Amino acid sequence: MPQRILVLFAHPAYRRSRANAALRDVARQVEGVTLHDLYDAYPDFLIDVEQEQALLLRHDVIVFQHPIYWYSCPAILKEWQDLVLEHGFAYGHAGTALAGKSMLSAVTAGGTETAYGPEGLNRHGLADFLRPFEATARLCRMRWLEPFFVHGTHLLDADALARQAAAYRRRLEALRDAATAALPEEG
Ligand SMILES: Cc1cc2nc3c(=O)[nH]c(=O)nc-3n(C[C@H](O)[C@H](O)[C@H](O)COP(=O)(O)O)c2cc1C
Repeated sequence: MPQRILVLFAHPAYRRSRANAALRDVARQVEGVTLHDLYDAYPDFLIDVEQEQALLLRHDVIVFQHPIYWYSCPAILKEWQDLVLEHGFAYGHAGTALAGKSMLSAVTAGGTETAYGPEGLNRHGLADFLRPFEATARLCRMRWLEPFFVHGTHLLDADALARQAAAYRRRLEALRDAATAALPEEG
């Protein structure tokens, strides 16, 4: 059985996006992927919790795709987490709706790999800045998958962006086609 993938896409200025636009274009083309644009669906931030929870139940792999903003995600994805990942649904004694599903962060960053190295401006790798997402996945009894990173977005020309998009496509296809037990887990 192919894994059903839900891409929760969050970019508040999508029309000016280069990196996420390229990734989003390929995600939309991958069979078995549902692309859900949160800013498009909820321009006023009034998230339909029931509908979002129902969407989660229909998928096996949940992807958070977004640019890194202030070392985290754009605001709507935080709002989504605050409201949708309810006690009794996503966590807590009876909150097992997401147990056994997988979570992938697919993020783009203006900072280069050097800037996210131990001697770089940011001191820590991007994976370290994603620890709150990793902890959230684990609290919800989900598998935390090795994140997909695009670094140094401002330096990428069209060819480089196309290569990143092709890598994202391969990653999504591999996740779709993997048996759950074979999904590589990080940490
Ligand atoms: C409000 C804002 C905050 C940002 N914060 C960060 C940051 O903390 N770290 C970083 O590496 N890049 C940061 N950036 C750069 C974005 O991550 C980068 O422009 C984006 O990933 C490019 O993707 P796009 O072409 O889809 O917009 C920030 C950009 C904006 C507009």
